[in-house]
Amino acid sequence: MNPGLKDEKMKKDLIDITDLTTEEIDELIVVAEDIVKTPEKYSEVMRHRKIATLFYEPSTRTRFSFESAMLDLGGSVIGFSSPTECSVSKGESVADTARTAACFADVIAMRHFKDGAAFVAASNVDIPVINAGDGGHMHPTQTLTDLFTIHMEKGGFDNLTVGLCGDLKYGRTVHSLIAAMARYKGVKFILISPDELKIPEAVKTDILEAQKLDYIETDNLEEVMPQLDVLYMTRIQQERFRDQASYERLRDVYILDNKKLESAKPDMCILHPLPRVNEIAVEVDEDPRAAYFRQVRNGKFVRMALIMKLIAAYDSAKEKGETLEKPSQDNAEEFPKNILRCGNSRCISGIEQGLKPLFKKTESGYRCIYCDTKGTRNG
Ligand code: CP
Repeated sequence: MNPGLKDEKMKKDLIDITDLTTEEIDELIVVAEDIVKTPEKYSEVMRHRKIATLFYEPSTRTRFSFESAMLDLGGSVIGFSSPTECSVSKGESVADTARTAACFADVIAMRHFKDGAAFVAASNVDIPVINAGDGGHMHPTQTLTDLFTIHMEKGGFDNLTVGLCGDLKYGRTVHSLIAAMARYKGVKFILISPDELKIPEAVKTDILEAQKLDYIETDNLEEVMPQLDVLYMTRIQQERFRDQASYERLRDVYILDNKKLESAKPDMCILHPLPRVNEIAVEVDEDPRAAYFRQVRNGKFVRMALIMKLIAAYDSAKEKGETLEKPSQDNAEEFPKNILRCGNSRCISGIEQGLKPLFKKTESGYRCIYCDTKGTRNG
């Protein structure tokens, strides 16, 4: 049924890249590479299976690649590319929309503008849910795409110096990539951003510092350029800013051009999750180090591997009469809103009907289970 996939045990959903073990990521990369070499082997494996692509927020690459992935596996696609196209526009909740999709599809890929939306969807259905980007929170399949591209371009992950440049505050792909690359040996992170767009404290304390990783923060791209093996450029995320003036001030803070690349290593690899606005000059596209359109293409292959693996795990559990576990709410505590509330105005808990405000206790205090933000105490 699923050529190339070794075992069928894994979590039901992919909400956060940490839902995958290092072995599972490595396996997905091996299968994706095999799909590139022998696509015909995989062209029928999802026959009669459907993916529901539920996109509440605009997307070009992620939606196209999920849909192409399922089509190239012999399956088919249902879904929407905007909430205006379906009953979301009448006020239907994330939970009810996901339950409805699960009546027709074998797997859901959801993009939403609120942090934690995919967690809510996954908690309400038995079929696998893939987070295709939830607000400024996580974008794990972009991370799989990034990892697969780094593997293809650099031959592995160990001992790489990775520069992450631009909007490190709202750039969800950066948070997931750090969490994933942190697992490999000798990786060094250089975090390049203006003060206002520095990496969130939660990423610093929970990943970089908790795992004693080698990292530095700087606002100077030119100064660190010669050290980099991978340069991951990001867009300043206009849609996440509360005021337009701050966006205008920061939008062109980093523009990668041929002049700046003169001091880069000859085999440095330039990545960008795209879309770009102005942060990579078009002249750079001709540079063989520019890997961002190869990265787009790679997104389909790694999503093909992921869809196969999640559906295989679901089928296997079903055959045994088991149900795969929904996202963990273990040890989650409910507090009245007047005592503790999520401190994140972009969290799904602020808009989803009937959603309990749940928090998990961590070393740094109570955090919202949907978006990982620290709870804010009232009074
Ligand atoms: N990289 C990425 O998520 O692109 P889209 O927003 O076009 O899907």
